[in-house]
Amino acid sequence: AAGGLVAVSFAGCGLVGPSPVSTVGDVEFDTPLSIPPLAASTVDTDGTRVFSLDAQAGSTEFEPGEPSNTWGFNGSYLGPTIVAKRGEHVRVDLTNSLDEPTTVHWHGMHLPAEMDGGPHQMVEPGASWSPEWDIDQQAATLWYHPHPHGDTEDHVARGLAGMFLVQDDAEAVLDLPREYGVDDVPVIVQDAGFSAEGEQEGRGHGFAGALGDELIVNGTRGPFLDVDDELVRLRLLNASTARSYAFGWSDGRPIELIATDGGLLEASVELDRVLLSPGERAEVLVRMVPGERIVLQSKMTPEIAGMQSMIAASNGGTDSFDVLELRAADTLDPAPAVPERLNTIPPVDETAVTTTRTFDLNGFEINDDEMEMGRIDETVTVDTTERWIVTNTSSMPHSFHVHDVQFRIASIDGAAPPPELAGWKDTFFAQPETEFELILRFEDYADPDTPYMYHCHLLWHEDQGMMGQFAVVEPGQQATMTEETSHEH
Ligand code: C2O
Ligand code: CU
Repeated sequence: AAGGLVAVSFAGCGLVGPSPVSTVGDVEFDTPLSIPPLAASTVDTDGTRVFSLDAQAGSTEFEPGEPSNTWGFNGSYLGPTIVAKRGEHVRVDLTNSLDEPTTVHWHGMHLPAEMDGGPHQMVEPGASWSPEWDIDQQAATLWYHPHPHGDTEDHVARGLAGMFLVQDDAEAVLDLPREYGVDDVPVIVQDAGFSAEGEQEGRGHGFAGALGDELIVNGTRGPFLDVDDELVRLRLLNASTARSYAFGWSDGRPIELIATDGGLLEASVELDRVLLSPGERAEVLVRMVPGERIVLQSKMTPEIAGMQSMIAASNGGTDSFDVLELRAADTLDPAPAVPERLNTIPPVDETAVTTTRTFDLNGFEINDDEMEMGRIDETVTVDTTERWIVTNTSSMPHSFHVHDVQFRIASIDGAAPPPELAGWKDTFFAQPETEFELILRFEDYADPDTPYMYHCHLLWHEDQGMMGQFAVVEPGQQATMTEETSHEH
């Protein structure tokens, strides 16, 4: 591996840190990709589907015989994949077996604020919390992770993250791969730093946050996946705390994107690269030829790097990684053509907008303010449509995530978004010096006492206070902050 260190400084912000360099081609794909187990569930007499998550400390051998201290849900690293159907009422019984408070946020989920698992729903060590809600959104690849204010980067980096797949009838009738772990495969991408022996060690901390010089997928170092089906669906999740990726195939074939954060696109689209900042998801299809081996890579081309120069610089200028090798069997189960129409996405409706708000991202602040737990920044009236103008006014890369809703990007610097940003989104990469116009509809769940969050999903930035709070209220209602809710035993 190229072991050089490149100092990265960001003018005016006083943060200087080493940032490791990576090169394509130094990964040995010698370990079968680990597939997170499906979460077991029971159904209560009232029909509620109940899952259990136990946040616990443990030990993980990323290399045989080299244990690292890690955290996980129901295990030592990451968590089980939760699957639930639209229309189901679900409950998750969460136990905190750690020795510090944490919480679990359902990223991308439309649900009441008090079930959201943000920084106001802390769970003390030894305590439990049982949020429940109706699954009321289209099929999508969502995920869950801790959200304790100030400690989110740490808790996620230690291993607390998992996928939450929403299914629905519309997606179920489409001829798409959906055999979990076989032709429908979770791909949770994180960067990490390992010692020469293979023990997880710290990652260099630069202005973007911690950046590791190696990738792990579903917690596997050097992962490969044996494939027996012609068509494979990969659910890519960037669960890294700071690093963005530009995913593509080693042989240059286009990457076939079918879904973004909030669900399926209208039709699949072929791209050279899929750019995912922390927190974003993409579902992609790949059609394999018998016997072939191809590698999912992340390669920041000059084109992309030009748009996000600071990220590229923070990665030493050549931000490229081998991610995952797919190994096709000599005979593959044939698959039909991908359906031409996958979903119906209404055109962005700007006529319904009643309120416009602006959010300037600069330094580690939004609108020149740092997050304060006791301050509601924005009060939104339930069942209204809003326009949020989000501008990264700096040269530092950021991302932007809004809780509660799936939104649409109406324009980027005044132009229509590219196809990969034209579907349902809850997080996007906020490129330097760029203005994004979002259209968001806030339905249901008015609660003047409990806010939702919006924030940069570079988790160290979030921890530094690059986050704000919005409450959804009935018309005319005032948002009020009640005292902190904390779930104790
Ligand atoms: Cu994925 Cu507020 O977080
Ligand atoms: Cu940021």
